[in-house]
Amino acid sequence: MHRIAVFASGKGTNFEAIAAACSDGTLDAQVALVVCDKPQAEVVAKAERLGISCFAFDPKQYASKADYEAQIVELLDRAEVELVCLAGYMRIVGETLLSAYGGRIINIHPSLLPAFAGARAVEQAIEYGVKVFGITIHWVDQTLDGGRIIAQRAFEYEGSDAEEVHRIGQQIEHKLYVETIKKILK
Ligand code: GAR
Repeated sequence: MHRIAVFASGKGTNFEAIAAACSDGTLDAQVALVVCDKPQAEVVAKAERLGISCFAFDPKQYASKADYEAQIVELLDRAEVELVCLAGYMRIVGETLLSAYGGRIINIHPSLLPAFAGARAVEQAIEYGVKVFGITIHWVDQTLDGGRIIAQRAFEYEGSDAEEVHRIGQQIEHKLYVETIKKILK
């Protein structure tokens, strides 16, 4: 059975979808560790409820990104994690994590990259007036949302309701993330 980690900063609906796929056998994997940079985030309580180890940290308590990433690397090593899945982890991965886990970190992003990288991707797309939205899963490298693309799904939407776009997009994300992880683990 493969061992994966999920990094999140918010609600953790992608985490839940991945954890559910692990427990129903869709994925031959186990979420060995959750990492969250916001101790109050919903994902922390969700991990606790599922009995999954969670490292919730406050970056302000550390002198530098290298310091907290060194601790994360230690926990990933100890948990024997093979694949790191960023799922709404709203931090740029730094050199310390990349040099230890580069090539084994993937991210899900709510736009058709390379369009609308960075924060507020859906809102950026709406401001631009796009009619085709989408989701991208890509390898994480030192660029911002710029690593090689693994999977994408597009959907058409005419309008400017960001919440609706998030809702449609998240339904796609939950399936696409599980399918993509499955392919990578094979
Ligand atoms: C997801 O929609 C993901 O695409 C987005 O954060 C959300 C997290 O939702 N990620 C980014 O915007 C990364 N730039 P979740 O916590 O419910 O899984």
